[in-house]
Amino acid sequence: MPNQPRGHTHPALASPGIVLGCDYNFEQWPASVWDQDMALMRAAGIDLVAINIFGWSAIEPQPGRYDFAALDQIMDLLHANGVRVNLGTGTASPPPWLTHQHPEVLPVTADGTTRFPGGRQAWCPSSPVFRQHALALVEQVARRYGNHPALAMWHVSNELGCHNALCYDDTSAQAFRTWLADRYGDLDTLNQAWGTAFWSQRYGDWAEIQPPRLALSARNPAQLLDFQRFSSDALLDCYLAEEQVLRRHSSAPVTTNFMVTAHIRNLDYWKWAPAMDLIANDHYLDHRLADPVAELSFAADLTRGLAGGRPWMLMEQAVGAVNWQPYNLPKAPGQLLRNSLTHVARGADSLCFFQWRASAQGTEKFHSAIVPHAGTETTAWREVLELSSTLDRLAEITGSTVEADTALLFDWESWWATDTEARPSQGVRYLDQVHAAYRALRELGVTTDIVAPSADLSRYRAVIVPCLHLVRDTDAAALSDYVRAGGHAVVTFYSGIVDEHDRVRLGGYPGAFRDLLGVTVEEFVPLLPGDETTLASGARAGTWTELLRTTGAETIDSYADGPLPGVPAVTRNRHGSGQAWYVATALDPADLRDVLRRALREAGATAAGPESDGTVEVVRRRGGQHRYTFVVNHGAKEIEHHLTGHELITGEHVGTVLRVPAGAVRVVRQEQSR
Ligand code: GLA
Repeated sequence: MPNQPRGHTHPALASPGIVLGCDYNFEQWPASVWDQDMALMRAAGIDLVAINIFGWSAIEPQPGRYDFAALDQIMDLLHANGVRVNLGTGTASPPPWLTHQHPEVLPVTADGTTRFPGGRQAWCPSSPVFRQHALALVEQVARRYGNHPALAMWHVSNELGCHNALCYDDTSAQAFRTWLADRYGDLDTLNQAWGTAFWSQRYGDWAEIQPPRLALSARNPAQLLDFQRFSSDALLDCYLAEEQVLRRHSSAPVTTNFMVTAHIRNLDYWKWAPAMDLIANDHYLDHRLADPVAELSFAADLTRGLAGGRPWMLMEQAVGAVNWQPYNLPKAPGQLLRNSLTHVARGADSLCFFQWRASAQGTEKFHSAIVPHAGTETTAWREVLELSSTLDRLAEITGSTVEADTALLFDWESWWATDTEARPSQGVRYLDQVHAAYRALRELGVTTDIVAPSADLSRYRAVIVPCLHLVRDTDAAALSDYVRAGGHAVVTFYSGIVDEHDRVRLGGYPGAFRDLLGVTVEEFVPLLPGDETTLASGARAGTWTELLRTTGAETIDSYADGPLPGVPAVTRNRHGSGQAWYVATALDPADLRDVLRRALREAGATAAGPESDGTVEVVRRRGGQHRYTFVVNHGAKEIEHHLTGHELITGEHVGTVLRVPAGAVRVVRQEQSR
């Protein structure tokens, strides 16, 4: 598979069980607190702490003058207390002296405005000056701690691109031109790829090319797309430069924390994943979404996809509320355990929190932590202790892998192309469509692998393709071959429309999938917000319809009213020995579930759990001779699940029926049945 990380998983961390960890911002506290922290960490069973993430101004207080006294002391203290270190390179946020002496490192937004220091990550990813200072720091840190006995792994920078992913200054403009010259070789090829015949945009000299700074009208979509690619590559390059320095001084695994989450979309992690020794993700429940808990499962499955199916690390989650959403909700009693074990069910072998001790000062002073402002006589503290002892009871699942025979194709490039400026409907947003398909699968009790469009699909019984607007020729051909060989695919609307240069595939939509689906579409007919249409079956839909004609497919459902009465809306096409479904509209959730239920049944796909409104999640991991079935009950009532085995959390034998109390999680070990 193309997106395999290099292969260290938790054995590389030499951990016998599930790792429990957290960020430890010891710089924010006097040394007198550190001893208390060590005792409390031992009580909580903390295995791993991330330190020095924002340490730069402390360890290099003046240019080239390093002061490692506190870091030395804390490394030794942690080691003496049996806590291993996930050591930050410290480059996430430059110290004030750097931006003061070199204001040219500051990032610039699309409207040409400089973003000043005072927050964090105030640096341009393409800045050679920033790079030079950052690597000098990494060199010092790597040399000093590369063989320290407490060191478990390296944490490069922090959430690369969280704030500074897209930078439009002159340095970035020059780096963008170099990147384009590498990609296209000559200007004629670039002019073709960007369609610059349109609106008199033809370039005659590389120097004329700008990053897509804000213009009076919508900008060239191919240029926007390449700028996204360039920006993701520029940050990956920052990672690789630090990694190279670390490798010279240390053999510990190297990674950085990904942000597989709903509000960050600027990094193409399919390209990043192969560069990581282990895949680590930060996940926070996002209460701006319709279903934050379903999104947690989605993010966990996507992170597993990035890890090539192998176990991964949850590098950050919150004990309770965050501080950066408009309304920051704490977790309900029991939710910490439920959320945490959902990550474990879906492949995490390490659970870490941001952060150990709640800050008393600074922007994050109202962010939850393991040790809250109120201290340890608190629900948060008790729930972390409960989680810790629960993880001890689950130690044997470490290294096992998640079972899934359904896949969903996900692609950052398609996200960028779908949500571009001038498009048929602002109501069609990539992630909404992906989440809609994922939620339907989750509610059907189906565990789904989330994979790149280039992944090997042969082992899946069904492949779901939501809104894959941009698709490369090879990936479209691979999907078609998969179905021809007997696979089952469900493709949803606005898929297959453009190639990798954002060029429309001519001859009728959905160009890349016309033959596979046995349909052709003349025209998109979006619906206005709030408008709905009814289908012949009684199903309801909104957002989008298409003037579609079948060219071989069978019509499963058609519009009964709305702008296109009688036109097919859901079709199924026999293609070789397989079936390809097309859903040409945004069905209501229950109706999308109906279509997927039928398609998955025909495909013979496995549902690990019962159908529910999302309140029950059943996921299986398999390792050695055992299968581990996780049953998560998000609901307010006890549920029953039929299976036999040994329950790891309560230690009880399950005869035929497992009872899972309201809000609880159970994990049942069974002998491997095949
Ligand atoms: C991110 C960062 C952390 C912290 C948390 C707060 O994940 O990596 O430093 O700011 O957000 O939620």
